[in-house]
Amino acid sequence: MSARVKTAILISGRGSNMQALVAAAAERDYPAEIVGVVSDRPEAGGLAVAAAHGIATAALPRGDFPSRDAHEAAIDLVLRDWGAEIVCLAGYMRMLSAGFVERRLGRVINIHPSLLPLFKGLDTHSRALEAGVSLHGCTVHFVTAGMDEGPIIGQAAVPVSPSDTPDTLASRVLHAEHQLYGRVLRWVAEGRVTLENGRAVHTGFTADDSAALIAPTPGIDPAHLENLARFTP
Ligand code: GRF
Repeated sequence: MSARVKTAILISGRGSNMQALVAAAAERDYPAEIVGVVSDRPEAGGLAVAAAHGIATAALPRGDFPSRDAHEAAIDLVLRDWGAEIVCLAGYMRMLSAGFVERRLGRVINIHPSLLPLFKGLDTHSRALEAGVSLHGCTVHFVTAGMDEGPIIGQAAVPVSPSDTPDTLASRVLHAEHQLYGRVLRWVAEGRVTLENGRAVHTGFTADDSAALIAPTPGIDPAHLENLARFTP
């Protein structure tokens, strides 16, 4: 078996997507290995969880550095020390500079809780409810200099129920995020999706892979059925 691709995760908070990636990487024949978790917030709950899994961690608060460049240089040093080839942003709440991103172009991915390009930025679930969409979801994309703007690699759709609140919707989207992220990291680590001329290019796709781009079916909440019924002719 070829060596697994060393992957680091950047977080700022609870780290549930980080945990989903750690769980995915524990699967037999998974092509990526999680070598370390960095947080810009020492209090991030995800750091303790990672450490409990025996994963290297680094807390690098932005306030400890004189500039964004110095902060990113410190992150870069840690990533190099771990030999990280892929970087997954998982609830990392700080914009990375164009320089950082360009040095690792095609090897930094992010998960965002909406079907991009809709609802970039924060508060995606309340904005989706306000807009009255019937489908919401999550996106994993290659990171480029613009916020939530890089080429889309994979998306999972989550039906919106008329009774949803931002919290109920967030929890179903989060469940979809946990399923999608591990699958997308697999594709990136296997080289089955690459960033070429500003697009995510997929090769060697299976029917199973395609299904995952539309909607992860396990764990569907019965409340979804109420919403889907609205579309029954
Ligand atoms: C997730 O909803 C992710 O999409 C967004 O921030 C949240 C992080 O949650 N970027 P967690 O820390 O992974 O639990």
